[in-house]
Amino acid sequence: MFGSMQLIGPFTQILPLSGLPMKGAIKDEQLTIIQNGGVIVADGLIVAVGDYHQLIHQYPQVELERIEKQAVLLPGFVDCHTHICYGGNRAKDYALRIAGKSYLEIAKAGGGIWDSVTQTRLADTDALVNAIQERANRHLSEGVTTIEVKSGYGLSVEQELKQLTAIQIANQSVAADLIPTCLAAHILPKDFQGNAKSYLEMIVKELLPQLQQQNLAKRIDIFIEESAYCSEDAIPYLQAAKAMGFDITIHADQFTTSGSAVAVELGAVSADHLEASTEKEIQLLANSDTVAVVLPGASLGLGMQYAPARKLLDAGACVAIASDWNPGSAPMGDLLAQAAIISAAEKLSTTETLAALTFRAAKALNLSDRGMIAPQQLADLQAFPCADYREILYYQGKMKAFGVWKKGRRV
Ligand code: NIG
Ligand code: FE
Repeated sequence: MFGSMQLIGPFTQILPLSGLPMKGAIKDEQLTIIQNGGVIVADGLIVAVGDYHQLIHQYPQVELERIEKQAVLLPGFVDCHTHICYGGNRAKDYALRIAGKSYLEIAKAGGGIWDSVTQTRLADTDALVNAIQERANRHLSEGVTTIEVKSGYGLSVEQELKQLTAIQIANQSVAADLIPTCLAAHILPKDFQGNAKSYLEMIVKELLPQLQQQNLAKRIDIFIEESAYCSEDAIPYLQAAKAMGFDITIHADQFTTSGSAVAVELGAVSADHLEASTEKEIQLLANSDTVAVVLPGASLGLGMQYAPARKLLDAGACVAIASDWNPGSAPMGDLLAQAAIISAAEKLSTTETLAALTFRAAKALNLSDRGMIAPQQLADLQAFPCADYREILYYQGKMKAFGVWKKGRRV
């Protein structure tokens, strides 16, 4: 047992992010900082965290993995909302948008999500696996050790299976954990002979059982929006998925409200976007166990307002921040830069921002085994080249982790 134990450190500062509330506002005064700390790791899990020299005395047999410079250690980030399984890109849409066309106008003119569906359908499984690997590895090198990945650019039983199979294969070959989500209900596919209701019924009957048989996804997402699915069609779909044992998450309140009310009513694990949420939706989310996931990357890509993260926290909600990395609205995929930007715009404390990227984001994925540096948690860690944790957001994402560990192993 001792042979496989390691002590990683010393770190100038360790931010364990343990002992903080799961919901509501957090002041930086509530943050615990371990100075000159170390972490004991065995079998991919954290065994102990504390003062470096005390740990050496307590565990005299451990292997030392020395950190020879000033460094601040954080839990690995959890990106709880991405669409990194796609073919092609939408640079053309982006150019139209910055020239003044709206997201919805571009979609109606044949661009938008359907364009990515066309390009993703043309990609074979291998090409998608490679694309996911490349994006996931870039994320991992930037400290993101858990990455949710949605389908939703297939939009038929066969093509959604292709996407989720590619995610499953990529998950076996990348060090980051990929958490798959089925977003077959992204938009109504243009080539489906029927309406939204009959499409969703078909997905429940023909796709969801296969996801369970092949262990391809445990989570179901839907885009509730005027340009996608209405609540009336979404509710029976989500109820059917829930009855089969799937976790529910919803693209909610991006342009118009109604998605977050459905999320709360059905006990969704998260409601994501929320740019259009008003006081009513904020209260609903705050009084629920549904995580409010804000996606600054989509606000940046679409040139629209941020979700009301400050108001959500003050009302008592659990707020996570995710990248929404996708070819249309959020091509950048830089989670730390985006978090730094929304924290400045919305006035989120450093601790609220780091919580939103770690244990609160893990809750959005229904995972309690990561997001903190504490005994029994996965040893998913990242070290920044600085001596004061406040530098991390200060450099607005330009300063990246120099060391990343996934399940105790440096990557
Ligand atoms: O989260 N809002 C819906 N879906 C994605 C956009 C996907 C796309 O434009 O390709 C989102 O922003
Ligand atoms: Fe999204």
